[in-house]
Amino acid sequence: MFRKITTLIATAALSALIVSSAALAADPIVIKFSHVVAENTPKGKMATKFKDLVAERLGGKVQVEVYPNSQLFGDNKEIEAMLLGDVQLVAPALSKFERYTKQLQIYDLPFLFKDMAAVEKFQQSDKGQALLSSMESKGLVGLGYLHNGLKQLSCASAIKVPADASGLKFRIMTSDVLAAQFEAVKAVPLKKPFSEVFTLLQTRAIDGQENTYSNIYSKKFFEIQPYITESNHGVLDYMLVSSTEFWMGMPEDIRKEVKKALDEATAYGNQIADSQDLEDRQKIVESKRTEIITLSEAERNQWIEAMKPVWLQFEKEIGKDLIDAAYQANI
Ligand code: LMR
Repeated sequence: MFRKITTLIATAALSALIVSSAALAADPIVIKFSHVVAENTPKGKMATKFKDLVAERLGGKVQVEVYPNSQLFGDNKEIEAMLLGDVQLVAPALSKFERYTKQLQIYDLPFLFKDMAAVEKFQQSDKGQALLSSMESKGLVGLGYLHNGLKQLSCASAIKVPADASGLKFRIMTSDVLAAQFEAVKAVPLKKPFSEVFTLLQTRAIDGQENTYSNIYSKKFFEIQPYITESNHGVLDYMLVSSTEFWMGMPEDIRKEVKKALDEATAYGNQIADSQDLEDRQKIVESKRTEIITLSEAERNQWIEAMKPVWLQFEKEIGKDLIDAAYQANI
């Protein structure tokens, strides 16, 4: 009898163990990666790559779920959602961190970087890397930079010189620097979420917007905006961020593997960003839905002259040292 009871207890304990390890195995760490752009963009492709790498290397332990196109949270909500633990990874444009740090506004200064190579050089410098930890006191950990490209102006009317933009309404991301940039040419900036841009353009609530070719193409802005001015006036790049609480809460060995996969996916995204930009530009040209206006040097200089005072306006907030360092990356 005693033997029977012990066997019963042992069997029960064994099944409990099997059940709990099965439960453990069925309970991976879930990383919800929320973003606002389409899947056929550098950010969309990077996110898919990250998901695939994690599935391949950490399948069963970590699971990445990607939510593109603002389907889970729009860009005015995603950072808050992450701090609340509703998502674990986001990659907002650098212009969208203003509430958390003023330093990242550096990336919004018009005509600061001459090309994406200069952006990359600055980001890899000590000062650029230090910015990844600029929001630690707010519970945000920066895990890397991801490229998109340089911004162009799309508009309902043809814009060649700053005077052409005067009085026109442009959608901008939530950045005071971007607001000042449009005010510098007497245009009217409106801070609106990315998910609303198409409708705002279509209903003519706004005249234009600034974005990269990949966003203009994938979100079909070119179909409803007859002109794109190839101004290359600013940069649209991202920072991959997680909440410190989630990130540091992962077991160290897993965190290292996740970071490795994230770094590889980011390198892949950065590697395709340039060609995506060119391909999407070409598709827009071939569509014949819009005219791409290129600027002469004299015309471009007019924009630089009109917008450059914005640097001085924000010098105190951003820091002169940082602006000088970023400028040096062009040389
Ligand atoms: C925008 O809001 O225009 C962009 O930041 C969207 C994005 O994430 O590229």
